[in-house]
Amino acid sequence: MFITLEGPEGSGKTSHIPYLVEYLREKGHVVFPTREPGGTSIGEQIREVIHDLKNVEMHPRAETLLYQAARAQIVEQVIKPRLADGEIVISDRYYDSTIAYQGYGHQQDLEQVRGLVKYATGGLVPDLTVLLDVDVEEGLRRKKKDDEWNRMDAYTVEFHQRVRAGYLEMVKAEPSRWAVVDAGQKWESVQEGLRKVIVGRLKIDEINRTLTPLDKQEKDELRGIQRKSSKSLKNNEW
Ligand SMILES: Nc1ncnc2c1ncn2[C@@H]1O[C@H](COP(=O)(O)OP(=O)(O)OP(=O)(O)O)[C@@H](O)[C@H]1O
Ligand SMILES: [Mg+2]
Repeated sequence: MFITLEGPEGSGKTSHIPYLVEYLREKGHVVFPTREPGGTSIGEQIREVIHDLKNVEMHPRAETLLYQAARAQIVEQVIKPRLADGEIVISDRYYDSTIAYQGYGHQQDLEQVRGLVKYATGGLVPDLTVLLDVDVEEGLRRKKKDDEWNRMDAYTVEFHQRVRAGYLEMVKAEPSRWAVVDAGQKWESVQEGLRKVIVGRLKIDEINRTLTPLDKQEKDELRGIQRKSSKSLKNNEW
């Protein structure tokens, strides 16, 4: 199962993941946390370039492509093999960040950005994406306290507001994949909200996996019922 955490700066993604990992491991799951950009040796080198405050001249298209290079690497080197082994992978950001930041934030053509993202991921979509939604200024205030200010944080407040609005639009467009947790609450309540959403999704996953496929006799019976009911429908027997 592939879970991604998304949200504006300072919404709590990085600080919540270790506690989620510990919680799920205690429940007996094999869990692997990772982060974007990064999570591989190549990806971490690209992360340095993207985040370096010196790189003020970086063009949005260069920024977009650097993210995709790091992403392609982590998908192939880390995420896909672990999912194939049945692990739960939790990623601190994934391709929705590109749509939110490089698409909505930089106001680039969304279709083109979606195309790049699909190329980078090879079409790997998360099973669950949680948006930690927080007021932009509150998130930036939290980050400033932290001393972890990077080139992305330094974009204007308006940029970050477009990012947040973009996320909310993405949730509306694809509600079955997304869940939203109010990250403006106190930290403990946010962690509780995250656990609830994830455990709920794991249960659905479990039910789907334990449903045994139909055997031949059951399939034949089902076909018979379907044939009968379509005949009855034709003859107006309902
Ligand atoms: N609900 C909360 N209330 C108060 N402070 C919080 C809350 N959640 C996180 N913080 C604090 O805000 C700071 C930023 O949090 P964190 O680094 O987890 O955010 P992030 O979503 O990973 O940010 P970024 O997108 O910039 O990486 C940290 O110091 C963290 O402890
Ligand atoms: Mg973070």
